Amino acid sequence: MRIGILNSGGDCPGLNAVIHGVVSAASKLGWEVVGFRDGFEGLLPPGDYTLLDPSRTIGIMKLGGTILGTTNKGHFVAKVGDGKATTVPADVLEKAKATLRHLEIGALIIVGGDGSMTTALQLFQEGIPVIGVPKTIDNDLAATAMTFGFMSAVAAVVDALDRLHTTAESHKRVMVLEVMGRHAGWIALYGGIGGGADIILLPEIPFSMRRVADVINRRDAQGHHSTLVVVAEGAHLETGETVTREKAGPKGEDRLGGIGERVARMAQELTGKEARECTLGHLQRGGPPTSLDRILALRFGVKAVQLVQEGRFGRMVSYLQYKVGDVAIEEAVSKLRLVEKDNDLVQSARSVGISFGDEID
Ligand code: F6P
Repeated sequence: MRIGILNSGGDCPGLNAVIHGVVSAASKLGWEVVGFRDGFEGLLPPGDYTLLDPSRTIGIMKLGGTILGTTNKGHFVAKVGDGKATTVPADVLEKAKATLRHLEIGALIIVGGDGSMTTALQLFQEGIPVIGVPKTIDNDLAATAMTFGFMSAVAAVVDALDRLHTTAESHKRVMVLEVMGRHAGWIALYGGIGGGADIILLPEIPFSMRRVADVINRRDAQGHHSTLVVVAEGAHLETGETVTREKAGPKGEDRLGGIGERVARMAQELTGKEARECTLGHLQRGGPPTSLDRILALRFGVKAVQLVQEGRFGRMVSYLQYKVGDVAIEEAVSKLRLVEKDNDLVQSARSVGISFGDEID
C-alpha cells in the first residue's frame, strides 16, 4: 500500500506533527508514504513529491510550518471572494488523477481548512479515495470542536498582550492589538481573555466606536489610564465592511488587515487619549506548536491512517466531545463555527468587566 499526504491553505503550528503521525502509523503497517509538495500543486504532472519514512519525520513535531510546503493559491482553489465555493476545473482534476494513478497512490490524506476540504470533496467525487484532516488556526470549522494550531496562536496573542500591557501602562495609552480571525473571532476571544484585554472586538458582535470610547473614558475616570483592545482582523466597521489590505483577484480571498489601525485612530480622536496599534500577523502562525497542539495533531494523523485502513474514504477527522472521531467531508464543508453572542465564554468575559464594544454593559 502506498498513500499520499499533502498540506493545503495557510500553514499553522502542528502540521509537522500530523505528518509524523501519518508516516509513523503508516510505516507500522508496512505502507509507503508519498508527501506532495506545496499543497495540491504537487499533484500536477509529473508530480512534485518526496518519499517519507520515520527517519525523515522523527523530531519534526516541535517545528512550526510544514516540511512539505503549502499554498492557499494555485490551480486547486475552491473558495473565492467572500468564501463562496467554486469548482476546480475538470482538466486540473484529471491531471491530479493521472499523477496519483501513475504513482499508484491508494489513498490521499489532505490536511487543510474549509477551502481545502471543498477541494478534497471534489477530488472524492471524482473517485479519488481521500481522507481530510482539519487545519485552521481560526478554529472555525463546525465539524470539529478544536483544530491544532489554534492554541499556539492564542499563546502568541497572550504573550503579545503581556508585553503591550506594560508599555500601555507606562505611557497611559490605548493599545490596540489586531489578531487573525477572518470569519470567527475565537483567537481574539481566547487570546483577549487570557491576556487581560479590556475590550475585545469580534466579527460576530457588531460594535460602535462611540461605545468603545465610552469604555476607555470610563476606565480613565476610574483611574485605569491605559486600555488594551484586541480586534479580530475580520471585525466589521460600523458600515458593515471589513478592512482589507488587498482585494482578491478572480481567485482567492481578500487579504484582510487594517482594522486595528482604524480602531486606534478613532479611539484617539474620540477620547483625546494617545492610541497605538500593533498587528500581530503571522507571528500567530509561525513558531513551535504548544504541547496540546502537538498531541492533537499527532492524534489526527494517526486517525487519518486508521480511516484509510478501514477504507472509510470521504471522511474528515474531527475532535468532538474530547474524542478524535470522524465526519463526512460533505457535511463538514462550508459550515463555520462562529462565536455566538450568548456563548458562555463571552458571558464570562462580560462578567469580569470585558467590553465587546456593543451596547450591553
Ligand atoms: O485562515 C487563516 C488565516 O490565518 C486568516 O486568519 C488570515 O486572514 C489568513 O489566513 C492570512 O493568510 P495569508 O497567509 O495568505 O496572508
